[in-house]
This record gives sequence, C-alpha cells and structure tokens, in this order.
Amino acid sequence: MKPPAPSDWETLRRLAHLLKPHSPAIGIALASLTAASAGLLAIPLVVNDMLERANAAPPSPPSGLQIATMAAALGLLAVAAYVSAVLLHEVARKVCARLRIDYVTRWLRASMGSHRDMAPGEWAERLNTCLTDIDWFIKSSLGNFLGVLLLISGGVFMLFWMNWRLAVITILVCPVAVGALKFIERETRQLLRQSRAEGEKMAGALQSVILGLDVIKAFNAEDRELGRFRDRQQRLMDLQRRESYISSLVEPVFIATGAITAMFVVFFAGRFIAEGTMSAAELVTFLVYLMFILPNLRTLGLQLARWRHVKVALEFLDDASRLQAEADAPGAEVLSPPLHGRIEFRNVTYAHEGRSRGLDDVSFEIRPGETVGLVGASGAGKSTILNLLLRFYSPTGGSILIDGREVSRCTRVSVREAVSFVPQEGILFDGTIRDNVAIGRPGACDEEVRRACEAAQAWSFITDLPDGLDTHTGDRGLKLSAGQRQRLTIARAFLKEAPILLLDEATSALDAGTELLFGEALRGVLRGRTTIVVAHRLGTIAGLPRVLFLHGGKIADEGTHAELMARNGAYRSVTGSIGH
Ligand SMILES: Nc1ncnc2c1ncn2[C@@H]1O[C@H](COP(=O)(O)OP(=O)(O)O)[C@@H](O)[C@H]1O
Ligand SMILES: [Mg+2]
Repeated sequence: MKPPAPSDWETLRRLAHLLKPHSPAIGIALASLTAASAGLLAIPLVVNDMLERANAAPPSPPSGLQIATMAAALGLLAVAAYVSAVLLHEVARKVCARLRIDYVTRWLRASMGSHRDMAPGEWAERLNTCLTDIDWFIKSSLGNFLGVLLLISGGVFMLFWMNWRLAVITILVCPVAVGALKFIERETRQLLRQSRAEGEKMAGALQSVILGLDVIKAFNAEDRELGRFRDRQQRLMDLQRRESYISSLVEPVFIATGAITAMFVVFFAGRFIAEGTMSAAELVTFLVYLMFILPNLRTLGLQLARWRHVKVALEFLDDASRLQAEADAPGAEVLSPPLHGRIEFRNVTYAHEGRSRGLDDVSFEIRPGETVGLVGASGAGKSTILNLLLRFYSPTGGSILIDGREVSRCTRVSVREAVSFVPQEGILFDGTIRDNVAIGRPGACDEEVRRACEAAQAWSFITDLPDGLDTHTGDRGLKLSAGQRQRLTIARAFLKEAPILLLDEATSALDAGTELLFGEALRGVLRGRTTIVVAHRLGTIAGLPRVLFLHGGKIADEGTHAELMARNGAYRSVTGSIGH
C-alpha cells in the first residue's frame, strides 16, 4: 500500500536533514543575501530623501552620501549574488551526490525480490529527474526564498511605516490571492506526480525498445512500437499540458492582485493627498516599495512551483528507496573455510510471490566433491533451487545446509563466498574481458585469468580478438556472441575457485564441439569441488554419474541418465526431445 503524500512540514524536515551537514555554507550564503536585501530596501528611502530635497525651496541636488549609499547597496547585491551562488552550487552538488550514492547503495543492497516492480530504465529516469529538481531547488530557490521573503516582509513593513492606512488597503487583497494559489498548488501537484510517473514509464519503454531492437526488426514491429511510443508520448504531453494550464495561472493571479492593489492605492492616496495627510513624495515612495514587492511576489510564485517539484522528488525517491534490504539474522555465523562442500536440501518449500506452484518438499543431498546433474522441464524450478542455495530468496519451509550448517543462519556474504555461480544468461558488464572475468577473484593476475579462460574454452576466441583480454565487451557484452559471453561467465566462476560450483544451463549456448572440450576441461576444474550442473543437453547430462530429476515440485527420481531413461516415463518425455 502506498503511504500518503508527505506534507510540507515533512518535506521541510527531510530537506533540513539533507542540508544540515552544509549549514555553515548555507548560513554564509543566506546571510550575504539577507544583507543585500536589506541594502536594497534602503534605496526607496534614499529616493524619498532625494525627492524631498528636489521639492524643497530652494531645491538641492542629491548629496554624495546618498549616491554612495545607492552604489554600495547595488555593489553589495553583486558580491552577495556571487558568493551565495558559488556556495549554494557546491551544496547542491554535494547533496545530490550523497543522494545518488544512497540510492544506488540501497539498490545494490536490496533483496532480489524487491527489484521486480520497476524496470531499470524507470529507476534511472526517476533518479535523474528527482536529483535535477533537488539540485535546482538548492541552487536557485533556497537563496531566492529567503531573499524574496525578506524583501516582501521588509517591503510590507516599510509600507506600514510610510502610511499604515494605505498599507492596510494594500494587503486586503492578499487572502484572495492566497486562496487562488492554494487551489493551483493542489491541482498541479497531483498532475505533476502523474506526469512524472508517466515519464518514468516512457523511459523504461524506451530502454526495452533499444535493448530489444533485433527482435523488433525481425518481427517487423517498428511501426507497432513507434505507435505505442507515440501513445505514451501523447499521454505525457496531455498531463503536462493540463499541468501548465493550471500552473500558468500563478502569474495572472499576481498581475491581477498587483493591478487591483495599485488601483486602490492611487484611489485612496488621492484622497489622503487632498486631505493633506500625505505628500506626493510619500505616494511615490509608497509606490516604489509596492513595485519592489510585486515582482518578488511573482518570484515567490515561481519558487513555490520549484518547491512542489522538490516535494514530489523527495516523495518519489523515498518511495523508491523503500526497497527491502537484505539482512542477516541477528547473530548470523560466518560460514568459514575450509569447507568440504556438502549440500543438503531438507523438505524445502518455496514459491515466488504471487505464484501458487513452486518447490514443494524438495530433499536431496550432495556429497563433498560430487558432481550432480539437475534435470527438469522448463519452469520446473531448477534455477530456483540454485537461487535458494545462493540465498537470493529464503525458503518458506524446510532448510538448506552447507557442510551441515543452515545457510539461513549464516551471513549471506560467507554463503556466497563459498559458491561459484554461472547464471543462465551470460551476463557481462561494460568493461574489458579481463574486468569481467576478474569479478570472480579481484586482484587475480593475468596468468590466473588466462588459465580460467582456457578451462572455460574461452581463450582461443580471446586471442583472436584484436585487443585480447583488453577488448571491451560493450554494454552487457553485446559485442560478443551468446556462446562467447557464456564462456566468459564460466571463466569468471572458475576463477573464483569456491568449494561449490553451480552451473545453470551453462552450456546451452555452446556448440557441440566446444561443449565436448568444455566437458573434458570441466572434469579437471571440478576435481574436489561439489558441483550442480543444471542441463538440458544430452552431451552434458549423459556422462554424469548422478542425475536428480525435478518434477512436480519434488525430486521425483534420481540415478544415471541411462537408468532414468529406462525406468522413468516423465524423465523420458522431458529429456527425450532435447539434445539430440
Ligand atoms: N522472479 C520471479 N517471480 C515470479 N515467478 C518466478 C520468478 N522467477 C521464476 N519464476 C517462476 O518460478 C517457476 C520456476 O522457475 P525457474 O526456477 O526459473 O525454472 P527452471 O526450472 O526453468 O529454471 C516458473 O514457473 C517461473 O515462472
Ligand atoms: Mg532456469
């Protein structure tokens, strides 16, 4: 369930918390802006003085002090503007850098299950837009807010000081304007949230279009995708248009307020002057203050729009960081080496969220150093078994043990340290081949990387590449073939040299010849390691001494491939049509 939108106070508290470490810089920036605003407020007083002198008999020109005061006020403003801009830009940079790191940290530490709700493109879009809004607010609004509020309140004070009756008439118009602004705020906030969410969806859709370009082209689906994209774009534009129709009312509200106020002031001031309770110079000064206040009200309106953006940005970021972090049980032990690599599943039950069927009472045992095949129909739960062993998910019932110790009572890091894993998809990161393989053991020397690549049958294609180990794999390894990617992920797992090795359909993208060579190399690598080989291909499973058959959520049978073929009809139908 989505929590209610945060109030202004909550946003303010959250923002204050983010800004707190930078209070000295913000303090200096705001103090200099305050001084500059105070200087500006002095200008109409000097003008008043000048007018009085000009109207006096005999009239006298402005004094040197008056001119110097005005120059000093403007000079102060220039210096303050520079100092505050430099300081506040730095604060904005630091706050956004911290938020970005926080966000990515939460993302990396989150449990596997909590990532599924949003597409990667949507996450990236959210982070970027939210941080841009926060950056803008700190850079331009934070200083402006105080300066503008100061000028407005100082201006209003001066109006009262000049002529309280006229000032009362002036501020009578305010409640109407405030009411109108509140209405605008309420309406636009909702639209802003909707258009942000739509923008994120669009970024997510764009990412999947880019990543799936080959499929789109092969199915001649360009027009269909373009059509869907246009629809999204249209929806986004409609939302943005509605938002701008309402938020653009801010300015007319201020203009109308200003015009009505000026009318009242001139109307009543005429009477006061006729009564002799006010001089013409006073009216001019009064109007100068009014002219000070009105544009600042407009600036305030713009800053309120920024505030609205920050509010939504913080709300969205918080919402995204509500990911469930992986946490070890209190007092979790370290599964420390040396490990023998005995694996045991005892009555393990698990189903993915929202799925009725999954693993149901899975039990098996694998002796240290043993190599076992895991076979089952697609969707039977083979990958799930490996994922549970890696503690990506926790079983709902039963227990999983390594060397007789329950993995749920051990730290995640130490469990994962004990396991080398080759995932079903050959996942590579942007970087060189060396970087990608060395994830298996950071700091490994080139000789070790080469040996792992040789065992994974990757060395020959690597030496054919112009830059060898230094070849860039491209984002997600897209500059390599699927089989090459797979061999690099195998090399990565070999390099790790953990006591347990999990291969999830690791040979699916290899040709028969490479698979054969790989099988031979594997026997060398596997010596002494406990290995689970999830495989479909006959070439891989036929030679294994023991195969577990996963069927109906349970380990339905086990034996050699030949034994299972001979006695198990379900096994025959799962493996019969594959691998030949
Ligand atoms: N992240 C997930 N969320 C929900 N269901 C999932 C998820 N991953 C896999 N499943 C479902 O769990 C079942 C087992 O999947 P999996 O273990 O990947 O099968 P396989 O035996 O082909 O490796 C399938 O029905 C699949 O649809
Ligand atoms: Mg699988």
